Amino acid sequence: MNRTTHIQPNVDREVDSPAGPPITDQFGRTFNYLRIAVNEKCNLRCIYCMPEEGVPFKPKNEIMTTEEILRVVKVVSDLGVNKIRFTGGEPLLRGDIVKLVGKSSSTPGIESIHLTTNGVLLGRYAGNLKEAGLTGVNISIDTLNPEKFLQITRRDELVRAMEGLEAAKTAGIPFIKINAVALRGFNDNEIVEFVELTKDYPLTVRFIELMPFDAHQIWKTGKFFSAEHIQKELKGHFPEIKTTDGTATEHAIFQVPNYAGKVAVIPSYSRNLCGNCNRIRLTADGNIRNCLYSHNEFDLKDLMRSGGTEKEMKELILSAMWVKPIDGWMAQKTGSDSRESMTQIGG
Ligand code: GTP
Ligand code: 5AD
Ligand code: SF4
Repeated sequence: MNRTTHIQPNVDREVDSPAGPPITDQFGRTFNYLRIAVNEKCNLRCIYCMPEEGVPFKPKNEIMTTEEILRVVKVVSDLGVNKIRFTGGEPLLRGDIVKLVGKSSSTPGIESIHLTTNGVLLGRYAGNLKEAGLTGVNISIDTLNPEKFLQITRRDELVRAMEGLEAAKTAGIPFIKINAVALRGFNDNEIVEFVELTKDYPLTVRFIELMPFDAHQIWKTGKFFSAEHIQKELKGHFPEIKTTDGTATEHAIFQVPNYAGKVAVIPSYSRNLCGNCNRIRLTADGNIRNCLYSHNEFDLKDLMRSGGTEKEMKELILSAMWVKPIDGWMAQKTGSDSRESMTQIGG
């Protein structure tokens, strides 16, 4: 286990001005997007994410406070980060989520604030989140069939998740996306139905490759459905589909002619998106991860709680990102992980 690493000696960039240098790595990538897991807990139990009994969740005093999260947002904004995503676990289980969005959106330099949620509580919060300045919401919905939803999430909540989607539309949250983890023999017969959601409303449906982060090893069950195969299926059903543009994670992105929205495929396991990576991750317990697949972490919360200055925080973040491995395959070799589930890493 090699979880807590402090400042690396091989980076020597001075942080003199309040603005500081941009966050870069030795391979020439620049990082402008911070994903902050604000919570490990979740109100669903997706079978590829965690077992019914959950995973050993950290006690509350080890999870970052509102003030700590906002301090990090301020610090990274000085280093050129302009996009923040709150994720989890389920971020809407956190009572201060509207405040986090509001305060972050009024932080100078922060241009967009996003949220990744399972949507179950979105009906309650969508209006307030929009008012607080939320730019985009990604809602995880793997199936449009209620029984299958119960099977995959172990909770009978498809209706509320779909109500959450409708509430996001009604509130006018500008960018709405649906994340569906593609699972062979489970939802591969729903591709057309998902794509039809893009017909009349300008949302993006994204099919995500299954990743081997789960305590129960669903990974070994043959359900993996590669990005390449998803694209073949898409083109089979919609031969007229055209490529278009999207975000750095959306490696392949399409639009059916005359449809309002877009369809994307995210090769999260195949990892041919790493060259464009612009992401920094902060775990709910305050550790910087320079790659989703990396096992090294840099303890920013510990630094803050032991009286670290903004300058020291900037140095830690710059150092952590400078040593980011070239891709997720190299990152995977960085030791053995102490985290069992995606809910602890923040997607
Ligand atoms: P956009 O900003 O809208 O592009 O969203 P996003 O894809 O960054 O955020 P979201 O939380 O919706 O993430 C969806 C999925 O993308 C995650 O579950 C991962 O499967 C994948 N993903 C996000 N970041 C990375 C990454 O750095 N590496 C890999 N391999 N996959 C990632
Ligand atoms: N493989 C692929 N995607 C996963 N997610 C959670 N665990 C996994 C996994 N093992 C997805 C969720 C959500 C996003 C943030 O991460 O479904 O859409
Ligand atoms: Fe919750 Fe997301 Fe994990 Fe599902 S994948 S159990 S919604 S954290």
